[in-house]
Amino acid sequence: MENTLNAWDVSHYGGPDVLVPVTRPISRPKAGQVLIRIRASAVSRADGMMRAGQPKFARLFLGLCRPRASLSGTCFSGDIVAVDEGVADFKVGDAVLGEAGMQFGANATHLCMDAQGSLVVKPNAVSYEEGATLCDGAMTSWHFLTRVTQVRPGEKILILGGAGSLGTAAVQFASALGAEVSATASARNHDLLRNLGADHAIDYRATDPLKRGMNYDIIFDTLGVATYGAAKPALAKGGRYLCPVLGLRLFRDMLLSSVFGGKRAKFAAAGMAPPAVHREELSEVIALMGEQKFAPVMDRTYPFSDLVEAHRYVEAGHKRGNVVIV
Ligand SMILES: NC(=O)c1ccc[n+]([C@@H]2O[C@H](COP(=O)([O-])OP(=O)(O)OC[C@H]3O[C@@H](n4cnc5c(N)ncnc54)[C@H](OP(=O)(O)O)[C@@H]3O)[C@@H](O)[C@H]2O)c1
Repeated sequence: MENTLNAWDVSHYGGPDVLVPVTRPISRPKAGQVLIRIRASAVSRADGMMRAGQPKFARLFLGLCRPRASLSGTCFSGDIVAVDEGVADFKVGDAVLGEAGMQFGANATHLCMDAQGSLVVKPNAVSYEEGATLCDGAMTSWHFLTRVTQVRPGEKILILGGAGSLGTAAVQFASALGAEVSATASARNHDLLRNLGADHAIDYRATDPLKRGMNYDIIFDTLGVATYGAAKPALAKGGRYLCPVLGLRLFRDMLLSSVFGGKRAKFAAAGMAPPAVHREELSEVIALMGEQKFAPVMDRTYPFSDLVEAHRYVEAGHKRGNVVIV
């Protein structure tokens, strides 16, 4: 087995150019850990925000002056190549997918993970590339639509940012859960939205999706392009505004709407949920893939050496679904 791993260092905050390829010794799995040979890892919008240290208040968790964990990447798939003798759930040769969370370091050739962490077996029917994306858009949108709120059959949902990683997953999930789905994207992505199950595709460049005289039970603002205040008039009685992008205004709206009842604003950090919740949610998402009710939308695949290019593409803000490096 190799003695060194290749990874990408992000030792200070900034643009894609702060990413530097590095070589490190491979550590043996500690108690309860497995060593994974990474086959594919995601390059997500969230990874770019962590690399940039944005929004600034996130540095309270990431590291005040520089990233506390110096390697990049969170979501991955790969094969187990070594296990600590105390590990019962995985064996050498198992294909797995998961997320490294605040440990980071998934954009690498090898990664040590707790066997009890956010890690599940990857079925053969799920490719390594697809598997590497599941902890980003799919798990997050599933968390919002089944845990933060429960989408009920017949409800009207508006998904802002329907063509992104979270959005393409949310459109499929909401459709599978029996909702009437409206989603926004630029016109070039409307066929994609309809193919994913959207009943209505709205061009956000031509019309304000919140001023169409509709009343939605749920508005899932996957990109934080609106505010609760702007969305509230478009919500039906008891409607929920969900947003995965935290800011001070959303924080205030969450507090106030929880006190006064009626319509609600909601945020959750899906990635911070306990690993047991992640494993349960991933199993549910994988089951939906088996039932042909969900398939991650794959945009570009870059070679491992082109991580900087991949970050630039993601940062441009118009990827369709997911981007991975292999
Ligand atoms: N809270 C959590 O647990 C959590 C977890 C993961 C991610 N996140 C956050 O979730 C956010 C979304 O991430 P993502 O990966 O889904 O984004 P993404 O994939 O980078 O989004 C790209 C898409 O955004 C669309 N878009 C751009 N401007 C738009 C607008 N004004 N209205 C509608 N669509 C627009 C583009 O479509 P067009 O090309 O058609 O314009 C493009 O397809 C990020 O801020 C990320 O940090 C939060």
